[in-house]
Amino acid sequence: MPLLECRGLTRNFGALVAVDAVDLTVEPGEIRAVIGPNGAGKSTFFNLINGMLRPTAGSVLFDGKDITGLAAHRIARHGISRTFQLTHLMPDLTARENVRLAALASSPGRWRIVGGADILERAGEAADRAMERLRLAPFASMKANELSHGDQRLLEVAMALAQNARLLLLDEPTQGLSIEETERAVQILREMLNGEDLTVMLVEHDMEVVFKLADRITVLHRGQVIADGEPEEVRQNAEVQNAYLGGFD
Ligand SMILES: Nc1ncnc2c1ncn2[C@@H]1O[C@H](COP(=O)(O)OP(=O)(O)OP(=O)(O)O)[C@@H](O)[C@H]1O
Ligand SMILES: [Mg+2]
Repeated sequence: MPLLECRGLTRNFGALVAVDAVDLTVEPGEIRAVIGPNGAGKSTFFNLINGMLRPTAGSVLFDGKDITGLAAHRIARHGISRTFQLTHLMPDLTARENVRLAALASSPGRWRIVGGADILERAGEAADRAMERLRLAPFASMKANELSHGDQRLLEVAMALAQNARLLLLDEPTQGLSIEETERAVQILREMLNGEDLTVMLVEHDMEVVFKLADRITVLHRGQVIADGEPEEVRQNAEVQNAYLGGFD
């Protein structure tokens, strides 16, 4: 059974069809890149999956369950976490506190008073594990805004990971990073993905990053899927090259 299945997923903003009848299936363990020019609908598509936006039409099935139109916090509870195109860390808290808060926000018993200490402890453990995975442990007690730009992006991934995610949605994790920072981030992400029982959807403009990480690529153009396949197939697809005006290199 696929982990994620979108059927006819559509979102209009007034007259604009930002996501247009997208059919897409992601298998467990897959790393799927979603690419496409600016304004193609990639971030909106993520927002429809994780419940930040309601679809105008269509449905989203996660692990066989219909999660269409559920509130974002309920969808998070099902095991879908995301990072954002622009970082939204709490700059004055330490790196570890940021991750621990993320873990805490997703813990099912967070509003119970009894068992509170347990919940805090578990959130702390989840935070430490996630930071370890993203090689952030050495920076745990630094303030988030003192981390390098690359580590701040990885910190966001750690926050999503600490929420017991089974599906991670990463929106441009290397945006704004230098070539060196990107290389390091990609290497760390790759190691994390190799060792985890995780399924990932990744929006990314940097084609080198896409080809290093993705098992399959879906190309969005004006809200529609214009190609879907293994990296090599997609690379050679003429329509994809046209959409990018000049191709991948
Ligand atoms: N809340 C909104 N209200 C109105 N229009 C929106 C809203 N969010 C997105 N759009 C529009 O929907 C289209 C798709 O936007 P989206 O942000 O999903 O694209 P994207 O593929 O993520 O682009 P980028 O690569 O620049 O991040 C764009 O034309 C955008 O202006
Ligand atoms: Mg976007």
